[in-house]
Amino acid sequence: MHDEGQRSKAADPAPLPPELAEAVTAWVSQSLAETRPAELVERVVSERRESIALDVQALAQRIRAEVDVEVRHREASTPAPRAHIESERHFVRFSLNVRLQHIVLFSSCIILILTGLPIKFHETAWAEFMFGLLGGIENSAIVHRVGAVGLMSVAAYHMVYLAFFAEGRRNFLGLLPGPKDLRDLVQMLQYFLGRSTEKPRFDRFSYVEKFDYWAVYWGIVVMVGSGCLLWFENITLSYMPKYMLDIAKEAHSDEALLATLAIIIWHFYNVHFNPRKFPMNRVWITGKLSEEEMLEEHPLEYEHLMREEGERRRGSA
Ligand code: HEM
Repeated sequence: MHDEGQRSKAADPAPLPPELAEAVTAWVSQSLAETRPAELVERVVSERRESIALDVQALAQRIRAEVDVEVRHREASTPAPRAHIESERHFVRFSLNVRLQHIVLFSSCIILILTGLPIKFHETAWAEFMFGLLGGIENSAIVHRVGAVGLMSVAAYHMVYLAFFAEGRRNFLGLLPGPKDLRDLVQMLQYFLGRSTEKPRFDRFSYVEKFDYWAVYWGIVVMVGSGCLLWFENITLSYMPKYMLDIAKEAHSDEALLATLAIIIWHFYNVHFNPRKFPMNRVWITGKLSEEEMLEEHPLEYEHLMREEGERRRGSA
């Protein structure tokens, strides 16, 4: 996402006028010089001049994009020529590699849920119906194992992706939880309760997305671990006492229900049922976010990208 080549560009932002960068650095020096030694301020500010200009440029680009979005909204009902508005840019959020992993992951999970839950609730009419659809309990158990192989394969591939792809390592670092996530959660709750007028400003991954990601790790460890013990029952019993198998069965059964509810309540709300996303967030198909979505959902990341873009443009000038 951070590579220029990965971003589909419709319009290049104009560079920051040099007078503005000068004015900002002059303003910083002036306001600091009142309280700090002038020659020190001058030296530090001149060292930071470039960086200040880039920050201002990133901010200016964000403001310009926000204005464009607002104008687009206002003019949505009037098909007047809109040549003065920069055509909308898009930002690649999920590469093809990530999208394919996601497709294999959710296909396997759907198969596992549809063939697993009927075993748990075997006395119900809908379980009978599901077994009937697949031609009986034996077939259903085979399909469950096919789903399990899909899940284990994508989990193993994901480890390779994290270790050997620069994008995987970057995404992993971005997904690590930090103190800002806790602060964002508190601010979001305050916003929902009407005690704050501002929502938290998210970087590449919000606490909601991080929770989604780490919940899958936990789920896979428990489901694959207990599922393998159940699958290879004879081997399990030759190394472990019977009660271990009973524990595995209980863990598998309960975690299956928890995972299904987490997917339906947490994940589906965030990407499907949320009125802003309904009927679905299309990133899993297109891999892209519009500029408006970036500004709304990942404003800090947007500013970082604009800053990087400014740096690149200066480097190549
Ligand atoms: C999202 C992932 C999964 C879900 C939702 C799921 C769900 C379930 C459920 C609800 C049961 C019935 C448990 C009971 O008797 O109450 C079950 C059974 C079973 N699961 Fe899974 N499971 C998942 C992943 C796996 C994996 C990864 C494996 C293998 C590595 C696996 C292997 C088995 C086996 C062997 C059984 C015993 C029933 C049979 O022989 O078909 N499951 N699963």
